[in-house]
Amino acid sequence: MITILVVYHSQTDRTKKMAQSVAKGVDSIANACAVLKEARKTSLEDLLSCDGLALGSPEYFGYMAGAIKDLFDRTYDQARGRKEIFKKPYVAFISADNDGQGALRSIERICIGYQFKKVSEPVIATGHLGPDIFIRCEELGKIIAAGCEARIF
Ligand SMILES: Cc1cc2nc3c(=O)[nH]c(=O)nc-3n(C[C@H](O)[C@H](O)[C@H](O)COP(=O)(O)O)c2cc1C
Repeated sequence: MITILVVYHSQTDRTKKMAQSVAKGVDSIANACAVLKEARKTSLEDLLSCDGLALGSPEYFGYMAGAIKDLFDRTYDQARGRKEIFKKPYVAFISADNDGQGALRSIERICIGYQFKKVSEPVIATGHLGPDIFIRCEELGKIIAAGCEARIF
């Protein structure tokens, strides 16, 4: 069984709903299971033990949410150079009022530092969440789970 850690921060539930859809996509793949966690409750051990990672953040002040940055701040030093982290597949999903590019850029930059491997383009939701966004989030979950399960990433 492979596990995909779906980690997110959310204040008004948009990113949380996206995360739930990503997790639903993961769980639809045979031999894959999603671990859905708020960033504040996520530990180094969670990052080390998962097979793949889906990171979800709202954009705050043109950057990722502080809780996502806090997860990186808490784990980077101990994670750096660990074989469990090297080339770990990841995807990102963003919720924003504008284009979400600031949040995305900041996450992608730090993921390069961890040496995570980006395996799909992100899902970026702007403003109100329509049904298309949930479908795309579910697809994102399927992509990372199926790829990890098949060991193609
Ligand atoms: C403190 C704060 C700062 C924000 N800054 C931005 C921003 O810089 N750019 C943007 O597009 N949206 C910004 N927003 C809007 C949120 O990104 C947007 O409402 C998002 O969908 C919230 O996600 P959530 O429901 O998961 O909390 C900000 C919201 C808050 C509360």
